[in-house]
Amino acid sequence: MDPSSRLKALRNEVKTCRKCSLWKTRKNAVFDEGPVDARIMLVGLGPGKQEDLQGRPFVGAAGKLLDELIKEAGLNRERLYITNVLKCFLPENRATEEQIKACAPYLDEQIDLVSPEVLVPLGNVAANYLLKKFGMEPAPMEEIHGKFFRASMLTQSMLIVPMYHPASALRNPPLRNVLFEDWREFGSRLRSLGIVP
Ligand code: URA
Ligand code: SF4
Repeated sequence: MDPSSRLKALRNEVKTCRKCSLWKTRKNAVFDEGPVDARIMLVGLGPGKQEDLQGRPFVGAAGKLLDELIKEAGLNRERLYITNVLKCFLPENRATEEQIKACAPYLDEQIDLVSPEVLVPLGNVAANYLLKKFGMEPAPMEEIHGKFFRASMLTQSMLIVPMYHPASALRNPPLRNVLFEDWREFGSRLRSLGIVP
C-alpha cells in the first residue's frame, strides 16, 4: 500500500480504536494534518478540548501560539505534518505509560510512512519518546530545547529538534521568549541546511 493510502487506513482505524481507556472520553480522534511528503513533522502530546471537538491537531490556544512560532521560523504550517503521541483527548492533559505504549505504534508507523528529515517533538513526553526510540538518552527540556540531534535507525536517518510545548509558555509566560528564539534559530538552521528554501 502506498503511504497516503496507508495513512488513510490508519486515520480510519483510530476513529474506532479502543486500545486504551481514552476512547471513552473522546469525541473525535485526532490523527494528523499535513502532507504525506512533508520534510518536517511536529509531534505534540495529545488533543485538548478544541482538538477533540474539531478533530484537528493544535487548533486551540496552544495551537494559536504554535502558528505564531511557525511563522517566526519562516515556515508554512500547510507544509508541515502535525500529529501527537496520543490520538484521543486527554481529559487531565496527562498521559500514562500504558496509554503511550498502546498508542505509540500509530506514531511509529506515521514516522515510517512520512519519513521526515526533521522530527520536532513538542514537550517532554514526545521528546523522551522520540529520543528513546532512536536510542538516545532522554533529558529534561531545559537541556535539550532547540538542539539538533542526529538520529539513525536501520535505513532511516533524521534530525530531532525538541522544543518546549507551546502550552508551557501559556502557563509560564517567561518561556515565551525562549520559544520564539528557539523557533527563529530553528528556521535559520533549516535554511542553511537547505531543508527549506
Ligand atoms: N496540545 C497537544 O499536545 N496537541 C494538540 O494537538 C493540541 C494541544
Ligand atoms: Fe487508541 Fe490511541 Fe485513542 Fe488510546 S489514545 S484509544 S490507543 S487511538
